[in-house]
Amino acid sequence: MNPQERIAELTDRLNYYNFQYYQNSVSEVDDFTFDKLLEELSALEKQHPEFSRPDSPTHRVGGTISKEFATVVHRFPMLSLGNTYSEAELTEFDNRVQKGLSGASYEYICELKFDGVALSMTYENGILTRGVTRGDGVRGDDITANVRTIRTLPLKVNDPTVPALFEVRGEGFLPLAEFERINREREDIGEPLLANPRNAASGTFKQQDSGAVAKRRLDCYLYSFLSDPEAFQTHEESLMAMKGWGFNVSPTWRKCTTIQDVFAFINEWETRRFELPLATDGIVIKVNRYDQQRELGFTAKSPRWAIAFKYKAMAASTTLLSVSYQVGRTGAVTPVANLKPVLLAGTVVKRASLHNANEIQRLGVMINDTVFVEKGGEIIPKITGVDLTLRTEASLPIVYPTQCPACQTALIRKEGEAHFYCPNEKGCPPQLQARFEHFIQRRAMNIESLGEGKIELLIDRGLVRSPADLYELNESQLLGLEKTYSDAETGKTRTVSLRAKSVENILTAIERSKAQPFANVLFALGIRYVGNTTAEKLADYFGNMDALMAASHETLTSVPEVGERIAQSLLAWFADSENRVFVERLRLAGLQMETDKVAVEKKGDTLEGKTFLYTGTFANFSREALENEIEAHGGKLLSGVSKKLNYLIVGENPGPSKVEKAQKMGVPMIGEDEFLAMLL
Ligand code: IVH
Repeated sequence: MNPQERIAELTDRLNYYNFQYYQNSVSEVDDFTFDKLLEELSALEKQHPEFSRPDSPTHRVGGTISKEFATVVHRFPMLSLGNTYSEAELTEFDNRVQKGLSGASYEYICELKFDGVALSMTYENGILTRGVTRGDGVRGDDITANVRTIRTLPLKVNDPTVPALFEVRGEGFLPLAEFERINREREDIGEPLLANPRNAASGTFKQQDSGAVAKRRLDCYLYSFLSDPEAFQTHEESLMAMKGWGFNVSPTWRKCTTIQDVFAFINEWETRRFELPLATDGIVIKVNRYDQQRELGFTAKSPRWAIAFKYKAMAASTTLLSVSYQVGRTGAVTPVANLKPVLLAGTVVKRASLHNANEIQRLGVMINDTVFVEKGGEIIPKITGVDLTLRTEASLPIVYPTQCPACQTALIRKEGEAHFYCPNEKGCPPQLQARFEHFIQRRAMNIESLGEGKIELLIDRGLVRSPADLYELNESQLLGLEKTYSDAETGKTRTVSLRAKSVENILTAIERSKAQPFANVLFALGIRYVGNTTAEKLADYFGNMDALMAASHETLTSVPEVGERIAQSLLAWFADSENRVFVERLRLAGLQMETDKVAVEKKGDTLEGKTFLYTGTFANFSREALENEIEAHGGKLLSGVSKKLNYLIVGENPGPSKVEKAQKMGVPMIGEDEFLAMLL
């Protein structure tokens, strides 16, 4: 077979497997075979780019870097919707529709209003050829390479009845779980957090490196189908047809025959919308029949046959009492607003994030001002503005500290960064404490019996200065230690005391941590930008600490997913002699300084004859540790959901397709705790 034929064959075969996997939840091949075929296709396309097809599954992983996006004129303009917050105005809208249709009967389709980025995709002969942003409604940016990374979006529609040329439109978004995953990872590596899922989605779609886009699992809900001539009579038919062709249509839409039904839909989703996997901010109401839509027509900006009903943002106003400054693990100083307590969406809010000095300046906020607080998709409420009409002489400027609030070292600001930093990495108490907390967390050395104030106590008594000191602690040093803390906010006191049982727990956990895999040790070191995933990649690549420490800039940047920033950070960290002493002390204590893929030590046979597959992330195990644990107890790992699978272990943020497929096939799903119980 010549390369062109092989490329065509692989493209069709992989697209078929993808379709079966994402639309029908059937894995016809295991992940390994799939990856091998994809690799073969990718290599062939590199050799013969002229034969690469626009619907090639290799586009899903990105790789294209565009300098600037081309501007594209929309074939059908992308209009916006009229907005309302009131039921009275919605009734007026219904009256206008009724009048406009001269009394004929009509129906509405109600949908959720998804809060993301409007996208328009063109398909020619069933193949996705273009993805464009809304732009100004007339022209948008051509972001085809980025749109192709959306895994639920078909690159090819396999149905001969689809129009030769059509467009689908929808909302591109970052699922909330993905938004939180990214922020957890950013927190791990000391990066500023993304403000909200909407901005994160819009920023991601506009990135020029589609490989980086592919790493953030964007998704897209489709809500319109456009072709000339029209392919359907009603919006409802178009939604059902799109679903049938494999497009991701949110199942939340409903047909309503009266405006009362519409109100019921609005009321129902006011609270239920928080169960959805993405942020929503209202409801869209559309006349169902296309001929009636045409009859009603458009105003200059928006259709007369549709309207958006927006839920009121959950906001409140209160007084800004003071600003506290928190110092994080990397020394970044974050201002936090202390508020006069106020009720917001069922919870009492006392604090709100102010992000950084720029944000304070942008808001122009002063102490004693009346401020607006809002809760969005994120957990911590934020200050969105100042009520200047209520400002009095009592308002005082916020003076941003020039010295670290904890250790008085002069703060510095690195070029291009929004945060001020305390450079006293090794002596600043909150940085020290945060470094310990990072070290003992489950995904690192898993010494969580040292949590809840115990680390503070050990630091306070001068027993530990570096996490390496933990491995030199003994029972007599710990037994009977006690300290009473008073909470500045509540005034309540709390006593932490180390009795025999907790001392035993701590020392056992410290001892057991020596068996944590090398990747965990690497993550525990707390090197800036080296999160969980990067630590695993580095551990896989180098295999041991010495090889990593000896690696040059060139070698580091050749590791998959390690860029300039991570390489620089690693080099600087290992160049510091104190850090090297730290590593040597950990080595002497007996921590794992190399990967042990080859020989898995037998621990038991409780899993003998049983097969497992896992999805998501786990509190007690890295992927490698979980695989080792299964094998060490006599279990077998499978590469995909099939009839031969006995258990699917489901962690946090599981892959929906594996779960769906296991459900369909009746494969038992167990959580991490149940798995741990099986080992006993
Ligand atoms: S229909 C002619 N349906 O809201 C109207 N839009 O202000 C076409 N949006 O730019 C839009 N969810 O980004 C429609 N279910 C939904 C929507 C939706 C969110 C966004 C969309 C559009 C904006 C309209």
